[in-house]
Order: sequence, then structure tokens, then C-alpha cells
Amino acid sequence: TEHYTSILVEQRGRVGLVTLNRPEALNALNKATMDELVAAVTAMDADPAVGAVVVTGSGKAFAAGADIKEMQSKGYMEMYAADWFRGWEDFTRLRIPVIAAVSGFALGGGCELAMMCDFIIAGDNAKFGQPEINLGVLPGMGGSQRLTRAVGKSKAMDMILTGRQMGAEEAERAGLVSRIVPAADVVEEALKAAEVIASKSKPVATVAKEAVNAAFETGLAQGVLFERRVFHSLFATEDQKEGMAAFVEKRRPGFTHR
Ligand code: CAA
Repeated sequence: TEHYTSILVEQRGRVGLVTLNRPEALNALNKATMDELVAAVTAMDADPAVGAVVVTGSGKAFAAGADIKEMQSKGYMEMYAADWFRGWEDFTRLRIPVIAAVSGFALGGGCELAMMCDFIIAGDNAKFGQPEINLGVLPGMGGSQRLTRAVGKSKAMDMILTGRQMGAEEAERAGLVSRIVPAADVVEEALKAAEVIASKSKPVATVAKEAVNAAFETGLAQGVLFERRVFHSLFATEDQKEGMAAFVEKRRPGFTHR
């Protein structure tokens, strides 16, 4: 829909599905793709009819990285003046839960985009890696920070310094992905998980995401206090009244999503 050229956007029930759609370049993330993806998911974030988002790739890649051909001839001042990749920070500030459905290659910026999502569901054919060192650069969309937080120092150093790929099994063992599913089912399984999330209260899912993310930004005592204060605040919502009443009355809750 809209006028997008590098992505496909659909809505399935209360779930938004964004499919990266430059298969001829293995979904290399050029600036246009970044701008379109951020615009599409920002609109879903603001739409009360959408409660969760799935981002996926197409063909044999989730995404094979930032677009090398677009960057190749640039100089320092050009990269600096444009603050190249800064737009991705808008993606990380989304309030709506976002699931990455990864089939095939998630390399460089593709791995980094997957890690910007709230969790990753991987097909059994998924290949993760930060091969930037082979190009004479380092990860530039957060990989040195997010991979280290996701898998620890030793494996992050191994991946980033050697540029090797890691398969789905290793990625799950390391905590990079939440589940592995057959490659053919990865979008369907991610949509199912997203539909479950979208059936909950949207404001509650939003603050739950914020609380988990606070674990990466604060000390333990501050994070636990933040969580407890947010917990208290939810007693001002209709959805807390409905959720607890439904439990006591032995029925399914009907959240307002407000
Ligand atoms: N940028 C631009 N074009 C890319 C690309 C990328 N990251 N990855 C693949 N392509 C293009 C190829 O150039 C090729 O185009 P042509 O047909 O015009 O030659 C097309 O996609 C298909 O790719 P291959 O023929 O290479 O496919 P393959 O199956 O033989 O190999 C692959 C697959 C191993 C993933 C290989 O494409 C590859 O190594 N890609 C680059 C991976 C990489 O280095 N990623 C990091 C990019 S830099 C980055 O991401 C910076 C950052 O931190 C944000």
C-alpha cells in the first residue's frame, strides 16, 4: 500500500506485516528502505487498530546488510553530515511491539535490524553475522552494542572480529533468537505470536516493552523501581479492571486497547 517501493505493507487482523522487498539485492537496506520502513511502522505505532508488527524479508534473505553499493564511494564528511544510519534510531524508539521473522541471511545491518526488533523468531535456515570487518568497516547500526548485550562479550567478539556466520541453532543457544521454527513457517509463526500480543491491552504491552528495555539502560534497583511504579500506574486503567475481573469471573478478558 501507500507509495512504497522497497517494502510491502499489509494488515492481518490487528497485526501489521512489513516485508522488505528488494530481493534482487537480498533486501540490502539502502536509505530509501530505512525511510520507508520507519514511516510504515511509525504509522502502525500510532494506529489503535494495530497492536503488534512483524518485520520480515523475502527470498533468501531477511536482509544482507546495509547497501554496500550506496555507501562505497562516500567520504567521511558526507557520512558525518548525513549522520548516516541515524534514522534507525527512530525504529528503536517505537512503542509498539515488533517481531523480526528471520529466514535466510541476516547479515550486517540485517542482523542489526533484527536485533532492533523486540524479539527474533528464526527459521531453521537463518544465518546471522556481522561481516563488516571484511569490508574494512565495523557494524554501524548498533551491532557492536546490541550483539554484545544479546550474546555476551566472547561470542560478540568472535562474530565481529572474524565476520563468521552463525546458524539458527547457535543463535538460539546464545540467546539471540527466542524460537526456531521450520523456515517455511517463519512468517506464519511470527504473525501468530504478534496476534497473541495484539490481543492484549496495547498500553500495557507498550509499558511492558519499556520496562524490559529499561533493563539495558538502568541499574537493577532503578529498573525494579521503574517497573513497580509503572505497575502501580496500571491500576488507573480500564484494562487492569477488565483483566482482573475476567480472571475472577472465569472468562476471557476483552481489552479496550486504550
Ligand atoms: N549491499 C548491496 N548489494 C548487496 C548486498 C549488500 N549488503 N548483499 C547482496 N547484494 C547484492 C549483490 O551485489 C548481488 O547483486 P548483483 O546481482 O547485482 O551482483 C545480489 O545482491 C545477490 O547477491 P550475491 O550474488 O552475492 O548472492 P550469494 O547468494 O552469492 O551470496 C551473501 C549471498 C553471502 C549474503 C552475499 O550477498 C554477501 O556477502 N552480501 C554482503 C553481506 C555483507 O557484507 N553485509 C554487510 C553490509 S555493510 C553493513 O551492513 C554496515 C552496517 O553495519 C549497517
